[in-house]
Amino acid sequence: MVDIEKLVSPDGSLVSRRLWFDEEVYRLEQERVFGRCWLFLGHESQIRDPGEYFTTTIGEAPVIIVRGKDGKIHGHLNSCTHRGLRVCRSDSGKAANFVCPYHGWIFANDGRLVGMPEQREAYSDLDMSKWGLIPVARVESYKGLIFGNLDANAISLRDYLGDLAFYLDAQVDRREGGTELVGGVHRWRVKANWKMPAENMVGDVYHAAWSHQSIVRLQSMSPLNSDPDGVISGYGDIQQHGVNFACANGHGGTTRFYPVDAHPEQRMPGEAPEIRPPEVNEYFRRVQPEADERLGPVKSRIKGATLTVFPTLSILGSVFTIRVAHPRGPQESEIWSWVLVDRDAPQEVKDYIRGYYTFTFGPGGTFESDDGENWEQVTEGARIAAAADHPFHFGMSQGKEYAHAELPGQCGPILSEHTQRAMYRQWHDLMVKP
Ligand code: FES
Ligand SMILES: [Fe+2]
Repeated sequence: MVDIEKLVSPDGSLVSRRLWFDEEVYRLEQERVFGRCWLFLGHESQIRDPGEYFTTTIGEAPVIIVRGKDGKIHGHLNSCTHRGLRVCRSDSGKAANFVCPYHGWIFANDGRLVGMPEQREAYSDLDMSKWGLIPVARVESYKGLIFGNLDANAISLRDYLGDLAFYLDAQVDRREGGTELVGGVHRWRVKANWKMPAENMVGDVYHAAWSHQSIVRLQSMSPLNSDPDGVISGYGDIQQHGVNFACANGHGGTTRFYPVDAHPEQRMPGEAPEIRPPEVNEYFRRVQPEADERLGPVKSRIKGATLTVFPTLSILGSVFTIRVAHPRGPQESEIWSWVLVDRDAPQEVKDYIRGYYTFTFGPGGTFESDDGENWEQVTEGARIAAAADHPFHFGMSQGKEYAHAELPGQCGPILSEHTQRAMYRQWHDLMVKP
C-alpha cells in the first residue's frame, strides 16, 4: 500500500516519483481527483442547437454532453443502464434518441429510457423512469467553457475557478460575442502521465528558452527580429513583465502584466505583431478598445496567459489554443486540443490563427514536439527503481512568492516553481481525503 500522505512534502517542494507511474496512485486519482474536480468537457459553440451533442470523457468515464430542448446543457454517462455499453458511438452530431447497439434500449437525448424492443412482452412491469442514463451530477459553463463534475456536492464552477477567472477572462471575455472553437478537435496520445502537461502549463516558464531553443533561435535569426546578432534573447518581454500566479484549488499560470502607459499593441493577444499579416493586426488593433472596456483598467493590462485549470484543462493564450490531457493509464494521456477564437472575428483572422496554432502547438507543432518528448522522458525516468527514494525537486525560488497589489492569487517571479508546488499540494489534499 502506498502511503499517500508522504508523497508530497508539506510545502510541495519535494514530490515522490510515484506520482508519475504508480498504478495504485492512478486508480485512487480516478476517484479522488477525477471524481471530485470540475473537468473541462467542451465549448458551447459545439452544441448550439437543441439535440446537438458531443461525446468525451470525465477522467476515464465516457459521457455525452447534449443541448436539451430547454436550451440547457445536460450530461449523461455514455453507458447503457442494461449492460453498460456506450449508447452513443459518434464524436458529435444531432439526435433525438440514442439506441444501444446490444439489445436496442432507446434513450431520449435528455437521458430518459423511452423504449426497447419487445417492450410489452419482456418489460411490461419495468419502471422506466428509474432506468434512464445516469446523469453527470453537475454540468456548468463559464463564458462558453463547459465543465462537468461527478460530485453532486462540489462547490459551484465559478467558486472552483476562483481567482483564476480573472486571468481566464483575458482570453475568453474580450468581445461581446465571446469565443468559439474552429476546425474540430485534434487528439493524440503521449506516453506521459496526465500531470506532465498540467505541470508544464501551470507555470513552467523555466523550460521554454532551453527546451524550445531550436525554434527560439530561428525566431531570433529572423530578419524580422530586432536583435541584429541573432542571439537567443532568453525570455524576452516576459522576463521584464512576466508574473506567475498560483490560485486556490491548484490552478495557476503565467502572464505578462504591463504598466498603465504600455502601448496597446503590447497587450494584443498572440505573439510578435511583425510576423502577422496586416489584416490580422488590423483586427486586433480594432478590437483592443472593446477588450479594454470589457476587461476594465487592471485586467486589460494582462496578456492572454498560459494557464492550467486543475487538473487537466490548459489554455495557451499566446497561440489561441485550449486543451485537455485526459488520463489514459498511469503512463499515458490523450490530448484533445482545439483552436479558440473570437466568434465575431473575420474568417481570414480565424484561418490565420488556425495555421499559427498548427505550426506551434498543433500535434506536429514545433513547440509541441519538444514538450511531448520531455513529458514522455519524465514519465520514463520517474519509474527507475534505483531512484525510488529520490523525490523530484520543486524548490525553485521558494520564499519569493508575494501578494501583488493589483493581481489576484499568490504571485511570484516567472523563474519559480511556486505554481507547481501549489498544484501538488492541492493534489495531495484531494488524495488524502477519503
Ligand atoms: S446492453 Fe444496452 S440494451 Fe442491453
Ligand atoms: Fe513548452
